[in-house]
Amino acid sequence: MDAETVHSFAKRRGFYWPSYEIYGGSAGFYDYGPLGSALLHNLMEHWRRLYIIREGMYEIDSPSIGPEDVFKASGHLGEFTDYLTTCQGCKAGHRADHLLEGLEKNPDALEADELWTALKEHGVKCPRCGGELTEPEPFNLMFGTGIGAGKGKKGYLRPETAQAMFVAFSNLSQQARKKLPFGVVQIGKGYRNEISPRQGLLRQREFHMAEAEIFFHPDEKRWEGDEELMRTQLKLVDQNGEDRAMAAGEATDKGIIRGEALAYFMALTQQFLVDVGVDPTRLRFRQHLQDEMAHYAADCWDAEALLSYGWTELVGVADRGSYDLSQHIAHSGEDMGVFIAYPEPRKEHRIRLVPDLKKLGPLYRGKAKMVARAIEDAAPPEGELMVEVDGETIAVPDTCYVKEEGEVVISGERIVPHVIEPSYGLDRVFYTVLEHNLDIGEKGGEEYRVLRLPPDVAPVQVGIFPLMTKPELETVAKEVMTVLRKSGLATTYDGSGSIGRRYARADEVGIPWCVTIDYESLDGKDVTVRDRDTAEQVRIPIAELGEHLCSLLRTRSG
Ligand code: GAP
Repeated sequence: MDAETVHSFAKRRGFYWPSYEIYGGSAGFYDYGPLGSALLHNLMEHWRRLYIIREGMYEIDSPSIGPEDVFKASGHLGEFTDYLTTCQGCKAGHRADHLLEGLEKNPDALEADELWTALKEHGVKCPRCGGELTEPEPFNLMFGTGIGAGKGKKGYLRPETAQAMFVAFSNLSQQARKKLPFGVVQIGKGYRNEISPRQGLLRQREFHMAEAEIFFHPDEKRWEGDEELMRTQLKLVDQNGEDRAMAAGEATDKGIIRGEALAYFMALTQQFLVDVGVDPTRLRFRQHLQDEMAHYAADCWDAEALLSYGWTELVGVADRGSYDLSQHIAHSGEDMGVFIAYPEPRKEHRIRLVPDLKKLGPLYRGKAKMVARAIEDAAPPEGELMVEVDGETIAVPDTCYVKEEGEVVISGERIVPHVIEPSYGLDRVFYTVLEHNLDIGEKGGEEYRVLRLPPDVAPVQVGIFPLMTKPELETVAKEVMTVLRKSGLATTYDGSGSIGRRYARADEVGIPWCVTIDYESLDGKDVTVRDRDTAEQVRIPIAELGEHLCSLLRTRSG
């Protein structure tokens, strides 16, 4: 199926459409309509059920705008860039690597000079007007803003929800009673000023993310979850391009996936995606090439779906090591280490460095506390003591600390936790679910569409149809609708057109069950329940209808 069919269907039936159309539109922004919002909400609820209820993680909800310091520390200010080339004629900006797709292998891993060479070698011109292009230059993808009036403070719209979970780590670890591992999740918007938004929902400037940050002891990256998941078969394409299907556990044992927890969360990711309707035969995990890895990642696998656009990343499952917490510790001075007690205290002969804050204050001013902490963490130096603070190497005079030597009892150690992160782009999951489930067939010589969504993902679960436009049938139909709504089922009423046309309208938007009220339904008797996928019809007493449909929903949902 081509993407245009999905986009026009989505707009006609109210799933999504480009924003601000009456003002000429603005690339990279989309509205979700009534059915789309309901479907997106169901995806989020399903995700919450898996990560919060089943895996026992904490949820937070943090601001979309953050002060500059956060993004300096996270590396986004310096490194969250794509390469921009501008047309010298029409002045349109283009992402340089996008212009080299199909011409170069892996163009998004090329540096500015390599991109420039490749653009010239392939004679690439502006795709809009054929004009000459400028040399690529880095373009930061964050949207900047001001916080407060007057001079205020520089701020940015968050490019990922993840940073809040690192910044608030001390509060969160307190909630976990300072025990590892524990997981924190956040669902919310991410904002990226993409140079070339494209492919509808797939590359937008404002999009929905669902991210989990799971904090581990660096030497114990294991998650006690559902053991069955480690037996899940995953389709894996590793860094060497080797393609194989293998159980998550076996792939860990063979060192193909670097770590048990990473494999566990890849399997959980697959479970979520398949539950919500991604076709398992069009799903794979691809390991990032070394030069493709994000600035923070130690290993990363993308869950990719095969779409009309080709293989597309839906979720990144990354081992971020201690990068983020270490960065925030270095920049904020906050001690985010976690104390891990040894089973038995140990005696050790140690020389430790004790900083002298009175000397450090006048020398290092605002950074004095950070320098003090770095001194405490440092080993006794051979010569001059050098410490790393805020990305800067500082030589510390030996008058700023004293050496204390002796037998010490060590009851444990402070470690900076490592992080495994499954990061979902929900809009991409949403689009995939539509493209993979929109079944276009034929009925009575006419095109017939059925959106075969899992019932709990479908935006509406039940359609209520009075067989004819007669007041007595309509009254009962509305009563039935009220009862079903009270039992928590999303229900819509359709009283116009032939029953065939009404079934067709319901099938097209994925309603799993339609209930028809006829003359036998009067006096509270029974109704016909039709199944979207089998077209089978059964008579169910009205008194039992709510429980019947709720139980179908429970058994037929992922
Ligand atoms: N915290 C990690 C992180 O942000 P990412 O791969 O940059 O990782 C996570 O983004 C997911 O967000 C991607 O796997 C993708 O599904 C989605 N995503 C990224 N950029 C997007 C965009 N411009 N529009 C829609 N979805 C996007």
